[in-house]
Amino acid sequence: MSEAKRLAGEKAIDFVEDGMIVGVGTGSTVAYFIDALASIKHRIRGTVSSSEQSTQRLRAHGIEVLDLNSAGPLALYVDGADECDPGKRLIKGGGAALTREKIIAEASDRFVCIIDPAKRVDVLGKFPLPVEVIPMARSLVAREILRLTGGGQPVWRQDASGNGVLTDNGNVILDVHGLAIDDPLSLESTLNQIPGVVSVGLFARRAADVVIIGGEPPQLL
Ligand code: A5P
Repeated sequence: MSEAKRLAGEKAIDFVEDGMIVGVGTGSTVAYFIDALASIKHRIRGTVSSSEQSTQRLRAHGIEVLDLNSAGPLALYVDGADECDPGKRLIKGGGAALTREKIIAEASDRFVCIIDPAKRVDVLGKFPLPVEVIPMARSLVAREILRLTGGGQPVWRQDASGNGVLTDNGNVILDVHGLAIDDPLSLESTLNQIPGVVSVGLFARRAADVVIIGGEPPQLL
């Protein structure tokens, strides 16, 4: 599977133009994109990163990482996904970076999503939907998700040692199991309204513009 991720990550280089500031997502597929970006780093003005993990990898390659506030609107954002439906709507946040990812996607003219074929689904929801939550609202939000989704099972994400995972923003993640999301736009909006929710890992309002599915050759949606 990592071969498919590599092929998708490398193909995304075709979308990078000279002088761009490139938005960079998070995850194992994006890691391949970052490695490929290193070979053309002299052609770009810099990057905006969606996580500490990606920032470290970018800087290790000597690629400049800029603050989004000074970079302004971006021409291109490249990121992976956990699921992708035929409408290029996504579930993201398996790496807990969903909020910064969502911010950069919103700030970008073109969102190129890079996935391996296993991420393609007809209906989103088999992958538990990540929701980033302010810590004090965890139980409240979990109860509201139960009530509003009528069947979604929110689970507090923990690491291998049983400690609650904290995002780069100091918040917690609820992973909502058991959903079959037939109206992603509506669910995204509904869950966003719960006080204490920072962001929802559904990318329906701002879906991908282009999806690259890794393979020999890569396919474009
Ligand atoms: C990070 O929070 C996620 O949104 C990632 O984009 C997603 O989990 C994709 O990860 P992989 O490329 O590692 O499969």
